[in-house]
Amino acid sequence: MGKRGSVLSQFQNFDAYAKTLDDFRIKTYYGAALTILSTIIIITLLWSEFNEYRVTEIKPELVVDKSRKEKLTINLNITFPKVPCYLLSVDVMDVAGETQNDLTHDIYKTRLDADGTQIHIEKATDIGDPTKDIVKIVNSTDPGGENYCGSCYGASPPESGCCNTCDEVREAYIHSGWSFNNPDDIEQCVREGWKDKVAEQSKEGCNVAGSVRVNKVAGNFHLAPGKSFQQNHVHVHDLQPFLSDGVQHDFTHEIHHLSFGPKVDGVINPLDGVGGAVTKGHYMFQYFLKVVSTHFYFLNETVIYTNQYSVTQFERDLTGKDHTHSHNHNHMSGLPGVFFNYEISPMLIINREESKSFTHFLTGVCAIVGGIFTVAGILDGFIYNAEKTFKKKVELGKHL
Ligand SMILES: *[C@@H]1O[C@H](CO)[C@@H](O)[C@H](O)[C@H]1NC(C)=O
Repeated sequence: MGKRGSVLSQFQNFDAYAKTLDDFRIKTYYGAALTILSTIIIITLLWSEFNEYRVTEIKPELVVDKSRKEKLTINLNITFPKVPCYLLSVDVMDVAGETQNDLTHDIYKTRLDADGTQIHIEKATDIGDPTKDIVKIVNSTDPGGENYCGSCYGASPPESGCCNTCDEVREAYIHSGWSFNNPDDIEQCVREGWKDKVAEQSKEGCNVAGSVRVNKVAGNFHLAPGKSFQQNHVHVHDLQPFLSDGVQHDFTHEIHHLSFGPKVDGVINPLDGVGGAVTKGHYMFQYFLKVVSTHFYFLNETVIYTNQYSVTQFERDLTGKDHTHSHNHNHMSGLPGVFFNYEISPMLIINREESKSFTHFLTGVCAIVGGIFTVAGILDGFIYNAEKTFKKKVELGKHL
């Protein structure tokens, strides 16, 4: 027993928290106040520490992008209040040589009346299909009997060999590289009242929205007037209707949305809500974008591949330059419209969501509790000593 007792008392020597006898302890009112105060401070600090622990953080990491053969999705939603849909074409070109003329893949053109109200929505079908807004209205009045085969007026005919509608003639003209500027001479167009339809729509605006998948290489896409076609391997636009249909069109636009990939919180698209205003028809807006791949790895195992971009913006007044009806804009010279040139950054940003370490949280808790009590203890001792000195002085004063 004695031996065990001595072992225990040896062990007790390790106690760093030797207690004083209760009899020697004095409880003071300011000590109580300090205790309550420090408890409140501790609780507040612990609460904020806990909140901070709960919040996950996104850790970015920059590496070289090693992906190959990827596609890039461009999502866009742009409104042109002064260009009717039938005049607007969307084209995408990339340095790999792929051109998608008059893109209608997943792009919707919505006609807007002069107040900007939606007229009707139509999903334009695949490239090359002449099912455009204006054709839809017109087709219903197509009288074409079974054996009817309209002349293409010398232009290269479509697959069927006939140009039965005004738009087929128009298409044929464009494929031959001719400008379509005299619908009055074309029987199909007169019969369909093409000119009236165009006049009726020429004051409208157009909203272009949708998404396009392109090769992940540098390229450009543009929204420009007139049908576009390849002529001697050069991409040209038929500007005739845009410049000379008696209505002043211009490329005032508002970009509601432009992004390269799925939406993720925290990725800001700098062009959303940006617009350009102009009152001249011959005016060019250019946006130069640098696209940076960004991958997100979230704690719940979802992975999102998206892109961020930065942008610089230029405008050019083309008034006074010669305007023949077709322009070569491989050299980016003088075509009115809105152009987006994009480049792909070689760097990839990996954003990993991480939770905070629990041991770190525990360390924080100990630091708060220990720290506050120590400070309170020092303060308490200070007040106690000050009070003692003060009392002594008062007592001395009495004796004098
Ligand atoms: C395009 O943006 C406009 C304005 O924000 C919105 O009303 C419209 O629904 C959008 N269109 C598409 C297809 O998202």
